[in-house]
This record gives sequence, structure tokens and C-alpha cells, in this order.
Amino acid sequence: MGFLCAANWKMNLSYKEAESFLNPFSKSDQFQQNKLPFLKSELCIFPQALQATLFKNQKLLNWGAQDFYFESQGAYTGQNSPDLYKELGANIMLIGHSERRTLFHEMEVDISKKVLKCVDLDLVPMLCVGETLEERKSNKTLDIIKNQLKSAFISGSDPKKSGDLKFLAPKIIIAYEPVWAIGTGLTAKPEDVEKVHDFIKSIVGLETAVLYGGSVKPENSKELSMIPSVNGFLIGGASLKVDSFLSIYNNSVKN
Ligand code: PGA
Repeated sequence: MGFLCAANWKMNLSYKEAESFLNPFSKSDQFQQNKLPFLKSELCIFPQALQATLFKNQKLLNWGAQDFYFESQGAYTGQNSPDLYKELGANIMLIGHSERRTLFHEMEVDISKKVLKCVDLDLVPMLCVGETLEERKSNKTLDIIKNQLKSAFISGSDPKKSGDLKFLAPKIIIAYEPVWAIGTGLTAKPEDVEKVHDFIKSIVGLETAVLYGGSVKPENSKELSMIPSVNGFLIGGASLKVDSFLSIYNNSVKN
């Protein structure tokens, strides 16, 4: 399995700034001189919806929505259609980020519908799971993760797609992000990350890529990337500058 570095830009970067970020990727010859092998499968960006047109015909990066609606079209004022993302070339969609769950009250039932919609459209769902500090302190981390996984994959109506994790395992990505580590500068200890990642794989399957997220930066990326069950990173703050994003990638490539 490769190592995927995914950038979650959140509500950051102007259209112009996003365009400059992408410059090195559009000049693929120059970029390849930087010796980034297997680029296509190793880097991913989740831009804001209005930045998405910048990624049209982008061949070197995986990319997709930070959030979207679970229907293709209709009277849903203000929502973004996953089909439109697909039409522009998106291939991976972020689902259930903790900011969506807490700030925008996203419910498990919506999350599971979004997972199914991605599977239907042949888009890879990247599902975020993670515990709050309170939950961690009361030793509930694994229960919380298990419940989040179960409700995302099992509450759908088509048992072939939703209930059968063997069918889904190679087609999904899980991002483990302890809520208390997001944007705080705090990172989970490598042994705790390993424990949770191994637990996730024991539920969803060994073929599923499990990414770690929560204050990943160039300085801590090497140590975290050496954990065998860490298959990549979901990066917020440190993904906003192309240099730090690529330095995390360069630190993390596994042998
Ligand atoms: P952070 O954000 O790297 O700034 O902690 C990660 C995320 O929210 O996905």
C-alpha cells in the first residue's frame, strides 16, 4: 500500500492563492524533477467548492470535496452535488470531518448516505472518525470509533453495499483524527495512534488505507509515518503552504 498525503484546506486560501499553490503541479516536467514518484496516487487535495474549477483536468493530484450532499440533483438550495465534482474530475471525497459533525451538526445518518453515494458514483469516500478529549479521558476512544464506523457503513439500506465491509474495504479510506489534536498543535502519541489504527483495520479490513490527522507537520511526520498501520496523513494547517505540504510528503515516503 502506498502513502497518501491529503490536504484539507478548510475555508482557507483565496482563489489566486489556490491557483499559485497548484502551479508546480501543472508544470509536470519541472515537478517530476523534484523526484516525487507515483505522484498520482500519493497526494490529494480537498479545496473549497469555489476552488474546484482549478482542479479540472488536473492529472497529477487526487482531489475532491470537503463536503457534499447525498443526492445528485434537486431542490436543495445551497448544497453541492457530488455528480458535479465527478464531472470536474474529482475522485476522493471527504466525509464526516469533526468540524462538520460539531459546528454543522452533521448526523451519522447523513454520513452513511454520503458514503453510499460515493460508492454508487465510484468516488472514494474518506471517512473521518475520532474521539473528543473527554471521551479519551474516560477511556471511550475505541467504543466511539467503533460506533462511528458502524453507523457510517451499516445503517444504509442496501446490504450489499452498506453492510458488507468486505465488499467496501478496498474502496474506502478512513482518516483517524482525534478531535483534541485538530488545529491545536497536540498530536497523539505514536503508540496510541498505532493502537487505534490497528483497531480500525480489525473492523474494516487490512486492505483499507487508514490515515492519521491532527496537527501533522514537517517536524512530526517522519515518526508518525513509520507506524506500520499509518497509510497516510490528513493535513490541515500545514497543508496550506506547498513547501510544508511537500516536506511532509517527502518525510513520509515509506521504504
Ligand atoms: P490540522 O487539521 O492538521 O490543522 O490539525 C487536520 C484536519 O482537520 O483535517
